[in-house]
Amino acid sequence: MTEPIYLSETRASYDTVAVDYAALVRPAFERDVLGRAMLGAFAALVRAAGGRPVADVGCGPGHVTAYLHSLGANAFGVELSPGMVGVARRAHPELRFDIGTMTALESADGALGGVVAWYSVIHLPRDVLPAVFDEFHRVLAPGGHLLLGFHVGDERRRKEEGYGGHPMSLDVHLLPPGHLAELATGAGLVVDATLMREPDARVPQGCLLIRKPA
Ligand SMILES: C[S@@+](CC[C@H](N)C(=O)[O-])C[C@H]1O[C@@H](n2cnc3c(N)ncnc32)[C@H](O)[C@@H]1O
Repeated sequence: MTEPIYLSETRASYDTVAVDYAALVRPAFERDVLGRAMLGAFAALVRAAGGRPVADVGCGPGHVTAYLHSLGANAFGVELSPGMVGVARRAHPELRFDIGTMTALESADGALGGVVAWYSVIHLPRDVLPAVFDEFHRVLAPGGHLLLGFHVGDERRRKEEGYGGHPMSLDVHLLPPGHLAELATGAGLVVDATLMREPDARVPQGCLLIRKPA
């Protein structure tokens, strides 16, 4: 089957920027107190639910995977861009990073205690999101947790360059938290918390903490 264009565009774009993306984003993540707090709460919930593995989907250079691991989560990364996976593996050789897509995860049904999608569902077309929530529901164990970080809004933007002026060519979707909550509910998940963050530079950011009922 031919791959959808959004996947090939996203892969090629992040392959191009992988090294400079990592250099720019890692220090920003160090300063992201609220984001780290949400990831900390997520890791504590996953541990309390039995400590099953956690997939960091769209993990990029792997700093969030490594942070979750430092908090005692059995975390591994799944990432579309082989360039990003190479950067992640070099930075964190002790951790597992798989090349793959969150639209068709390799994990067995009910295998995971948690899924994190940290600024990665923003590159999925809106009409693909319901199937991706179904996929998150499929791989989560009952009582498992899902954490989403995303840019808030209701529009599609075309990104043609980034992370030090490299050429990119992909869509970025700003997403309404209420719409994501509806999709989660529609997939049989429950929203436990919503964080709305004021804009740091350009757009507000949101974070949803979601659970699969036990
Ligand atoms: C903005 S970056 C975020 C990376 C990392 N989570 C972070 O917080 O820095 C988006 C990442 O999601 C990945 N991605 C986008 N769509 C994906 C998909 N369908 N499956 C797996 N990874 C995907 C991209 O390749 C890219 O590395």
